[in-house]
Amino acid sequence: MDRFIYLDYNATTPTDPRVVEAMLPYMTNWFANPSSKNYGLAAHSLTAVEKARQSIANGLQVDANEILFTSGATESLNFAIQGIASKYQSKGRHIISFKSEHRAVLEPLETLQRRGFEIDFCPLDNLGQPDLQYLEKAIRKDTIMVLAMWVNNETGVVFPMEEIGQICREAGVILLSDATQAIGKMEIYPKKTGVSALAFAGHKIFGPKGTGILYLSRKAPRIQVEPLLYGGGQEFGFRGGTLNVPGIVGTAAAFDLAFSERNERLKQAELCRKTLEKVLFESTSGIERTVPESMALPHVSHLLFTGVRSAQLLSAWYNKIGVSSGSACSSGDLDPSHVLLSMGLSREKAFAGIRLSFSHLNNVEESIAAASLMAGTYNSLKK
Ligand SMILES: Cc1ncc(COP(=O)(O)O)c(C=O)c1O
Repeated sequence: MDRFIYLDYNATTPTDPRVVEAMLPYMTNWFANPSSKNYGLAAHSLTAVEKARQSIANGLQVDANEILFTSGATESLNFAIQGIASKYQSKGRHIISFKSEHRAVLEPLETLQRRGFEIDFCPLDNLGQPDLQYLEKAIRKDTIMVLAMWVNNETGVVFPMEEIGQICREAGVILLSDATQAIGKMEIYPKKTGVSALAFAGHKIFGPKGTGILYLSRKAPRIQVEPLLYGGGQEFGFRGGTLNVPGIVGTAAAFDLAFSERNERLKQAELCRKTLEKVLFESTSGIERTVPESMALPHVSHLLFTGVRSAQLLSAWYNKIGVSSGSACSSGDLDPSHVLLSMGLSREKAFAGIRLSFSHLNNVEESIAAASLMAGTYNSLKK
């Protein structure tokens, strides 16, 4: 096996050549600053930004003035969490979330905790599903927000967002969702679902890195936030600074393609995931899926390699297969996966987890080759 096999599309994706093509003119010919109002050249940039904003708004079925451009999901989440907490702290300082969230949510919550906010973590079962009765009872008069990720980045587990949205709507509490792993994989309509703030990144959907979206509901309900960056008044005064026009154009192009090609993309990814699992399970014993297929998105395979440590497997595959033992940011960490621990799995199991995430760019041949290599490594390490 000579070619490196990439099975880590939840970590990031290559930029689609059609997206690159859409971006290029905004780096060369139409480079002007969209905030320059004195000459026509800048109008090209401004029009492109507003077209991109409208296109993303249409896909999410929201209004264009509810879409803010950021540098990534991490920024969108930090901005929303801190901006909402600061604005609503006179109403209350109680926030509810889940221990399975990404570090881009957990760490801003830790900073809020140090500022005197109370963070309540709703328990999960061993399939990664939230205890909705707990959630309903945990909401109090001083609860200002619930934070719930739409799809887990490690396990691919889908949260019951309709039910969570209903609970939050009835209680009049803001629901903020990290949809980074859900966008382009399933229908995401925040307004319909009762989600008032939603974050995601361009690079997970074959768009450019360093780009993100924050949807913030401006009516029914109108969510208030403290601005993130003060400067030139861009992004409705919430995030000053010259806009990344090529990045914004690229994000919208990637978003549109992810939307229109969703079914074919998922079908190919699922075929490759199923092929790999079949070969792997036939040639080994001791490897199992962490959650059943029905609980997770079809392109994700989270596996427990019982009896070995994921770090050993990753180092054996370093130059051959790209997979992950957790979120991209913590790959290589010696800590067991916090997501698996949050689901009540033992530390031993949490050390043995490997995430494979496929895309339409994978094929059956490489899935078989990767499975054979993985099986061989596991069988010899287990001995
Ligand atoms: C669920 C989830 N949230 C947030 C992030 C952070 O995204 P970014 O690094 O693009 O800011 C990631 C990236 O791994 C993610 O998977």
